[in-house]
Amino acid sequence: MTSIEFLGHSGLAVRHGGRLLLCDPWMSSDGAYNASWFQYPAYPHADLGPLLSPDAVYVSHEHLDHFDPWFLSQLPKSTPILTGRFHKKRCLRLLEGLGFDDVTQLADFDAYSIAPDFVVRIALPSYNCPPHWFDSCALIEAGDKKIFNLNDCNHALPIDEIRSWNVDVLLGQASPAIWYPLTYTNYTAEQKVKLERARRESAIDSFVAGVTMIRPRLAIPFAGPPCFFDPDLVDHFTGPDSMFPTAPVAAARLAAETDIATEVLKPGDRLHLEGDGWRIEREPALANFDYERDRRAYVERHRAKNEAVVRRVLAAIPPAAPGLLDRLRGYLTPLVRRNPFFATRIDMCVLLDVTGPQGGRWVVDFRAGPDVEVVREWAGEEWRYRFTFESRNIEQVLRGELSWEDLLLSFRFRAHREPDQYNQHLFTFLKMTDHAALQAIAQAELAAAGRTIDTFRLEVGADVYEVQRFCPHAGSDLAGGEIVGGKIVCPGHRWHFDLETGACDESDYSIVCRKLPPA
Ligand code: FES
Repeated sequence: MTSIEFLGHSGLAVRHGGRLLLCDPWMSSDGAYNASWFQYPAYPHADLGPLLSPDAVYVSHEHLDHFDPWFLSQLPKSTPILTGRFHKKRCLRLLEGLGFDDVTQLADFDAYSIAPDFVVRIALPSYNCPPHWFDSCALIEAGDKKIFNLNDCNHALPIDEIRSWNVDVLLGQASPAIWYPLTYTNYTAEQKVKLERARRESAIDSFVAGVTMIRPRLAIPFAGPPCFFDPDLVDHFTGPDSMFPTAPVAAARLAAETDIATEVLKPGDRLHLEGDGWRIEREPALANFDYERDRRAYVERHRAKNEAVVRRVLAAIPPAAPGLLDRLRGYLTPLVRRNPFFATRIDMCVLLDVTGPQGGRWVVDFRAGPDVEVVREWAGEEWRYRFTFESRNIEQVLRGELSWEDLLLSFRFRAHREPDQYNQHLFTFLKMTDHAALQAIAQAELAAAGRTIDTFRLEVGADVYEVQRFCPHAGSDLAGGEIVGGKIVCPGHRWHFDLETGACDESDYSIVCRKLPPA
């Protein structure tokens, strides 16, 4: 007998043959990312006792809505912990820092056996693009059932192989977990609404595309959205143009566009996999809850308590200590100097507008020659990205309490870019800030540059093109892209590539694109 209890957000309790596997249990009532994210809705049971003796825990990646130190620290230190074999070792260090002495890192669908008939296989999204990412996904084999926890992972995976496994249940993210465009100040209000709408749609598209490619018997949207109680952020969730769709919206789209069965789970619901079918035991405490209808009501109901949590968490962050600029310089300079592959691709000054005690206006100069300070007071240099951070949050990053990506995911910063173009290498640099990881990504990119590029034949009206198969952003299959106004739109995150030139509207990437002569 196999069952999946939904714990909320990305959390799962998979039970099989008397054993328990937890996946990404984010249960803390303090939320995540300095109390900017909260579960929507929270797991309804205060007694977590039944979850505290698992046979294994899968932590898909280091993001704090997946890696919850509050919950994990309550588990026996001998609990087997499974995670991805990432280039960046922060997730491993955090797990070891909690005292776990049995941490297994896996990749390429390597297997970990909880029992002979209960096996977890983990993979990282690096199959059709360089490994700029540190998410992972897991195939859980429980008896004769195959559960694919795609989680936040993009589609840079061996999709054809995964489809051939005849997955029974796929659980995939259908709501964005990104700060763009919410925190950008270079857009008008109207532009922002349009971009947020596009981001919202692309998250649903991406879920539908993943499900359609893998063709499970049952697909379940999960892994978000979070909700917000900080008065500065709450509108992102309750506003009329919220960028964050909920699971029923994604399920409805899937049902409208495919014949693949879909279900929506609420925290506490249990999906029992029986014979060739399934049965859902619904959680009575949330029987009348509706994800879309109740957004505002949920926030109102929990506002007083959770606003107090936000105030408490923020008040506990100490101010930056004197010498912040020197410490930031000491931290960033060796990373920039030792990673010319990234510096040359970032190729700009980034302005840091640091507010609060010990703040200032500083540049990080990725073009700095050997005699020029990489991090220095801004003296009017031209910049292409500007970030406005609070000094105490930068101090948190330097202390290792937050990663840069945690800080970005908190949405408590502002960004501005001129020109309006994404620089993937800049964000990979910030996300990793780890020399070994940056080196590994650089090597993978260089190796990929020397390989033959997979292409496919695309007919648009009377024209025929040879087009690069996999998107350089995150490996989505461009053969599944729609054609809009002479551009192919990637099903991953809706980047547009010009069919004549291969140039991308949203980034400095381009694809191979060649018009074939008439036959
Ligand atoms: S995979 Fe992100 S836009 Fe193509």
